[in-house]
Amino acid sequence: MSLNDFIKQLDDLVESASKQFEDAIHQVDHQVLEETRIEYLGAKSGKLKEAQKGLGKVAKEDKPVAGKRFNEVKTRLEELFQSAADTITGGGKKGKAETLDVTLPGVRPRLGHIHPITQTIDELKDIMGRLGFSAVEGPEIEDDWHNFEALNIPLEHPARDPLDNFYLNIAASSHGGGNQLLRSQTSTVQIRVMENKQPPIRIVSLGRVYRPDEIDATHYAMFHQIEGLLVDTNVTMADLKYVLRLFASSYLGEDVEIRFRPSFFPFTEPSVEVDMRWQDTWLEFGGAGMVDPNVLKAVGYDPEEVTGFAFGLGVERLCMRRHGINDIRYLYDSNTKFLAQF
Ligand code: DAH
Repeated sequence: MSLNDFIKQLDDLVESASKQFEDAIHQVDHQVLEETRIEYLGAKSGKLKEAQKGLGKVAKEDKPVAGKRFNEVKTRLEELFQSAADTITGGGKKGKAETLDVTLPGVRPRLGHIHPITQTIDELKDIMGRLGFSAVEGPEIEDDWHNFEALNIPLEHPARDPLDNFYLNIAASSHGGGNQLLRSQTSTVQIRVMENKQPPIRIVSLGRVYRPDEIDATHYAMFHQIEGLLVDTNVTMADLKYVLRLFASSYLGEDVEIRFRPSFFPFTEPSVEVDMRWQDTWLEFGGAGMVDPNVLKAVGYDPEEVTGFAFGLGVERLCMRRHGINDIRYLYDSNTKFLAQF
């Protein structure tokens, strides 16, 4: 890239940024201001960042001049932003908000917005709603029966290990017996629904689950799952596959492939793990399978009469995949600069 082209590009940037910051001032709109700031000064893909790439492409002997100009433009854009921000909030020295003009619209308070995980949950509910699954909720504090026993996870099963669960230090209740815990999976809701309703059942449940995992880029002690359950006559694995494929392509796009790997869960037989292939990689999203006859019996259904499929997928994984977020902790450290992007 020639030095002239590089400088011309920077000049154009200043010109269009001035116009847009000016616009934000006229509209007295923090949202527009913030959008303009991200468009030009955004650390990830702002236009300035983009222009900086050109710096690497100018000839070596032009680098000092180009670099100097780049820094000036950076400062200029920051000034434009700052002065627009000052004017809009009324702090500017020559800003028009300095004197009270009652004919102007009021200064709009900055609005918050919905957390990306909640947005994902809403969208997933929507997708499954269109497939006829209604959304239900279950409690986050669960008892032994719903979290384990009815799901065919017997007392000696390692999944019950105190090191893998958040057991609560409270007295036995008449309902749940002694061992209450923060639920470790949303499969609990399958039991609660089937205990109260006869087939056909077609539900999803989205909510928090808790596990004392060591926290890192892909693990958190609290995360969200989407649980699905369909029970009816003549339900087969083909139905499960079809529904999950529709679900995946509705959320990630038509080009998604889906793969089942044989696995084991106490509450399904056969059990599979579900991978989705998107943008050239296989990603594991959770488990699924045909509801184990023991589970159907535990809730008083007759496994000779009805069959069902169930699945449980990680909401964070779906959300992170869709938005290219590579560390789950970003979602939960309440950094509004990060969260405001979604
Ligand atoms: N509850 C399982 C987990 O948390 C996920 C799961 C697997 C849910 C298979 C299901 C299922 O409904 O059928 O790892």
